[in-house]
Amino acid sequence: MDTGKVIIVTGAGGGMGKAVVAKLLGEGSTIVGLDMNKEAMKDIKDSKFVSQQVNLLDEEQVRDVFKATFSKFGRIDGLVNIAGIAQSATSIGDVSLEQWNRILSVNATGVFLTCKEAVHYMKKGGSGVIVNVGSVSVARPRPGLQSYIASKGAVEAFSRALAIEVSPDKIRVNVLHPGPADTNMLGQFSSVKQQEGGLNKEVFKNSVPLGELIQPDDIAEAVSYLVSDGSRMVTGASLHVDGGRGL
Ligand SMILES: NC(=O)c1ccc[n+]([C@@H]2O[C@H](COP(=O)([O-])OP(=O)(O)OC[C@H]3O[C@@H](n4cnc5c(N)ncnc54)[C@H](O)[C@@H]3O)[C@@H](O)[C@H]2O)c1
Repeated sequence: MDTGKVIIVTGAGGGMGKAVVAKLLGEGSTIVGLDMNKEAMKDIKDSKFVSQQVNLLDEEQVRDVFKATFSKFGRIDGLVNIAGIAQSATSIGDVSLEQWNRILSVNATGVFLTCKEAVHYMKKGGSGVIVNVGSVSVARPRPGLQSYIASKGAVEAFSRALAIEVSPDKIRVNVLHPGPADTNMLGQFSSVKQQEGGLNKEVFKNSVPLGELIQPDDIAEAVSYLVSDGSRMVTGASLHVDGGRGL
């Protein structure tokens, strides 16, 4: 099976990223995985997978990898922005400007830089699809995550703004908001004190109306839909995969 599609996935070495890459590879797409942690991508073994170590904060690296992908494959059909960093729950008075800037830079500026490149190449191809990962916390905040939530709110607003801008170019842009998900990141949302006591998954699980943590495969299913032609008339949308946490 070969969809003939070339899709760039950021955060490909992370919990959700690996599941998304596996799903899209299984459907027959070629995947270029970007992550600053190259080691984390080394167990993805597939002739249609290319891993690239990229720090999304480095504009030149981002520009180069999109250019190289387009030169090699002649097309970029999709971009799935999964890379991100958490915030350990902290009262605003204890958040430094440096911490705020770092979270905004990775989560929001990283999305801006990759989308900018993707749109450039998708216009050449005449169509494209972008999925940016936000967070249910934008709709349903937890205390102490103000910087993280601001960064994900920016992702949502930016995606909607970009969706209207690039609709005439047949490029779709959607946001996927996960709820508490069973990955390494989950424990990183707890305060430093809570983290010392170890991750209590039950607390997160109990906050989900459907009573379970979101699994990386749940995210992969939703991404698969959003990059497929089955969602051809869906753009500027926010899809919650959160077990009802946002309600
Ligand atoms: N896990 C959750 O409960 C949860 C809930 C809501 C939203 N999210 C969001 O889902 C996405 C994926 O999260 P995950 O749970 O798979 O986390 P993860 O920590 O397993 O994966 C994140 C990946 O992003 C990469 N990354 C971080 N900064 C980078 C940078 N500057 N350049 C390149 N790569 C970078 C990391 O190396 C890592 O592989 C994130 O955007 C996260 O904010 C997660």
